[in-house]
Amino acid sequence: NRADYVRIVEVGPRDGLQNEKQTIPVATKIELVERLAQTGLKTIEAGSFVSPKWVPQMANSSEILEHVLRTPPRAPHPITYQFLLPNAKGLDNFLSVWQSQSSAKRDTYPTPPPSPSNSQEPTLNTSFQGSNPTPSAPSGADATGKDRGSTSSETAPEIELSIFTAATETFTQKNTNCSIAESLKRFEPIMSRAKELDLNVRAYISVALGCPYEGPNVDPHKVAELAVSLLEMGADEISVADTTGMGTAPKTAELLKTLSAAGVEKSDIALHFHDTYGQALVNSVVGLEHGIRTFDAAVGGLGGCPFSPGATGNVATEDLVHLFHSLGAKTGVNIEKLSEVGEWISQELGRTNESRAGKATLAQ
Ligand code: HMG
Ligand code: MG
Repeated sequence: NRADYVRIVEVGPRDGLQNEKQTIPVATKIELVERLAQTGLKTIEAGSFVSPKWVPQMANSSEILEHVLRTPPRAPHPITYQFLLPNAKGLDNFLSVWQSQSSAKRDTYPTPPPSPSNSQEPTLNTSFQGSNPTPSAPSGADATGKDRGSTSSETAPEIELSIFTAATETFTQKNTNCSIAESLKRFEPIMSRAKELDLNVRAYISVALGCPYEGPNVDPHKVAELAVSLLEMGADEISVADTTGMGTAPKTAELLKTLSAAGVEKSDIALHFHDTYGQALVNSVVGLEHGIRTFDAAVGGLGGCPFSPGATGNVATEDLVHLFHSLGAKTGVNIEKLSEVGEWISQELGRTNESRAGKATLAQ
């Protein structure tokens, strides 16, 4: 029964680092990705193919992609790496690395053995139990029901693409220099190429619960309309993002109800909370109660969007893992190991470790 499994998408290496002003050596970024892969996290957003003029910190994402394609993860399970891209140029830059490495990858990785069956998961000890309509996933598949490969560490990593638009015109202009309609147009060639290459695509909808330019009252129907359009275009998952952290429990509940009423399946939704107002955990519980089982987070609470002034980091992965474990849900993540990574990267960046559960775990 996979109903109690919560999938965490670790966005620290991308969302977490993109806003850092000091140049972070690529070796540190790669070490972060490697260390995260050893904590039990199975999905890691590792970089982005955006304009280096707009986001200089992500300029060396090609090297990270090359690294993850070349180097088998030192993890007892396969890892899915995601890369963000805004347009066809980003896709071209991604593909030039991915295609040159993919033949080498086939040489490096042996054929994976058949996966063993997943063990029975514990049940949630709260009212969340049974609230998730997601059917049991087959062995080798994650909570989304998609095949994520075998459990051999010799398995080649799976690569997914992330595209992004936003629920307000102003934010879309500030972030990607185009209108919402133009952003969807830009996704068409990305989506068709991704389908040809059998790559999954996740689509973010930013400012879903508040916009730094248009205010806190973003129309949930606009978010739902965009989610439906993106799914119709072929997106495999929608990450609904509270970029500004303006989301509250009632607003989150209203948005999730609006998405359901528009026909968006809970299993197609991920929630992406920034914790600017300290509401990310309570909003996550609302999401969990609603049946959402995929959540984005950044180790150490790193992060922020350069085009969302004042917004702080993502919800800390350690805090989210602690919350889910306290509710009897399974994440597969070792919180001690994860907390060490959060403390390490915070020190590397000269930042305060923003994870309360991480600091408390290390102090035990
Ligand atoms: P633009 O300046 O309008 O682009 O930027 P353009 O098409 O006019 O091209 C201008 C130049 O940029 C050209 O080069 C292009 O080749 C180049 P030139 O001829 O001058 O030498 N270019 C590129 N170079 C590398 N990679 C590319 C690329 N595209 C064009 N992909 C653009 C438009 C979309 C590129 C720009 O606005 C951009 O890169 N924006 C990305 C902003 C960003 O990364 N934001 C943060 C990520 S989103 C986020 O954090 C939110 C999220 O976490 C969810 C949430 O919390 O809300 C996901
Ligand atoms: Mg974000």
